[in-house]
Amino acid sequence: MKKIIVAIDGYSSCGKSTMAKDLAKSVGYAYVDTGAMYRSVTLYCLRNNWITNGVVDEEKLKEALPSIRIDFKYNQEKKANETYLNGENVEDEIRSLTVSNSVSVVSSIGFVRKAMVALQQAYRETRGVVMDGRDIGTVVYPDAELKVFLTASPEIRAQRRYDELTAKGEKVSFDEILENVKQRDYMDQNRAESPLRQAEDAIVLDNSHMTIAEQKAWLLERFEERAK
Ligand code: DC
Repeated sequence: MKKIIVAIDGYSSCGKSTMAKDLAKSVGYAYVDTGAMYRSVTLYCLRNNWITNGVVDEEKLKEALPSIRIDFKYNQEKKANETYLNGENVEDEIRSLTVSNSVSVVSSIGFVRKAMVALQQAYRETRGVVMDGRDIGTVVYPDAELKVFLTASPEIRAQRRYDELTAKGEKVSFDEILENVKQRDYMDQNRAESPLRQAEDAIVLDNSHMTIAEQKAWLLERFEERAK
């Protein structure tokens, strides 16, 4: 089998990362969560109080960006990759609703996208990668051998996010999450820089009524067709 690039794009909270991680594990590929990169930059801004009423202090961020280091390290115990910001494990903190509420503005900044895309494209060297995000099949790897565009209804996606956050002990309301999902959909689709759109050659999957096992089997089948 040849080593390929698998690009999984789609709306927020669709289960892209679950699907991408499962495939990477099954076929022994690297998994790269590009949303975690934008979330880490957002956390960095929030910690420095550079976001006021949804407006980012771009000048300060631009200056600091080259010194922001984002890495992924494998946690043997959890059997999962975790995100590190300048050497600190921020895996849980970047998933909070506070970060989710600000990540759209940070990820719409052109120079931030340019820097993150460059980091993502560096994985080309290690072919055999599953990457999930919003622009992987359109901007980062337009030549990816397998592109999937994942979608599900906003209510179902909000319920999944709600279950995930409450399981971690975060106190959140379903309505607040649904609002965040809808707002991020709008911002992801309408931003000037690399808006979320389906690549022409992407396979669309609506997983609203699929189990994780069904999705996994579906993706593995597509992968085997392309990597043959
Ligand atoms: O997949 P996620 O919810 O963790 O992504 C967080 C945010 O980052 C999301 O609101 C959109 C943005 N994002 C992006 O613009 N481009 C990517 N390739 C990945 C995420």
